[in-house]
Amino acid sequence: MSGRLYVIGTGPGNPSQMTPEAQAAAAQATEFFGYGPYVDRLSLQPGQVRHVSDNREELARAKAALERAAAGATVCVVSGGDPGVFAMAAAVCEAIDNGPDTWREIDLVVVPGITAMLAVAARIGAPLGHDFCAISLSDNLKPWNIIEKRLLLAADAGLVIALYNPISKARPWQLGSAFEILRTVLPSETPVIFGRAAGRPDEQIAVFSLGSAEASAADMATCVIIGSAETRVISRGTRPDLVYTPRFAAGKAT
Ligand SMILES: C[S@@+](CC[C@H](N)C(=O)[O-])C[C@H]1O[C@@H](n2cnc3c(N)ncnc32)[C@H](O)[C@@H]1O
Repeated sequence: MSGRLYVIGTGPGNPSQMTPEAQAAAAQATEFFGYGPYVDRLSLQPGQVRHVSDNREELARAKAALERAAAGATVCVVSGGDPGVFAMAAAVCEAIDNGPDTWREIDLVVVPGITAMLAVAARIGAPLGHDFCAISLSDNLKPWNIIEKRLLLAADAGLVIALYNPISKARPWQLGSAFEILRTVLPSETPVIFGRAAGRPDEQIAVFSLGSAEASAADMATCVIIGSAETRVISRGTRPDLVYTPRFAAGKAT
C-alpha cells in the first residue's frame, strides 16, 4: 500500500516562522528529502532518516521521495519558505505528472509556509499592501527574454515586484540588468527593498531608491522588493523607515 508524502516549508529560517502544521507533518515522517541546510532546520529524532542532496537536484530528489512513499514510507520533502513558491511542490507534481501511475495513488499533502517576500515585507511595513507579483530572476529554467518581458509588463501595470533568486556566482549580471530595465518605466525615486536572510540572526534589511540601487547589495539569500510608482517611504526619526504601498490606487477616491 502507498504511503504518504508531505511537502513542507520551513519558513524563511526563523524557527518560530515554521507553521505548526509543518512541524506536525515533520513529526510524523520517517524519511526526509531536501537540500542539507533546509533539512538542518528541523530537529530530527533518532530513527528519522535524512536524504540530503544538492539544491539543483530537485527533480531527482522528488522522484526518490516518491519512490519511498510508493513503497509505503511516510516521507517529508523539505523546502525553505513556502514549498509551492519556486520550490519542491512543483518538482513533486512534475514528477507525478510524468511518472508511473502508482505515484498518483500516493497520499500527497502540500503544507503551506511563510514565503520570503512575506517575511521581508513584514520587517519593513507593508510594501505588498496593494497588487503585486513575484518573479524568479533565475534564467536556469526560463530564457532571459521572458524575464525582461515580465519585468517590463509588471512594472508598467503598476505591480510591486518581489524578485526571488536575484543573484548568484553563476548569475552575476541579471539583477543589475533588471534594474536597468525597470528604470526605463519606473521613477528613479521608487523604493527598492533588499531583504537579506529575513528572520535569521544575520538578517539585513535596507532600502534604496531605484536610481541608486546596486546589484552588489544583494546575494542569493536576498529577496528584492521593487515598489510601484505609488509605494511610499515614511521617515520615523529614531525608528527605521517604513515602506508601504497604499491600499487605494491612484484615481480611486479614499
Ligand atoms: C529557490 S527560492 C526558494 C523560495 C522559498 N520557497 C520561499 O518561499 O521563500 C530561494 C530564494 O528565496 C529568497 N529567500 C529565501 N529565504 C530568504 C530569507 N530568509 N530572506 C530573504 N530572501 C529569502 C531568496 O531570493 C533566495 O534566492
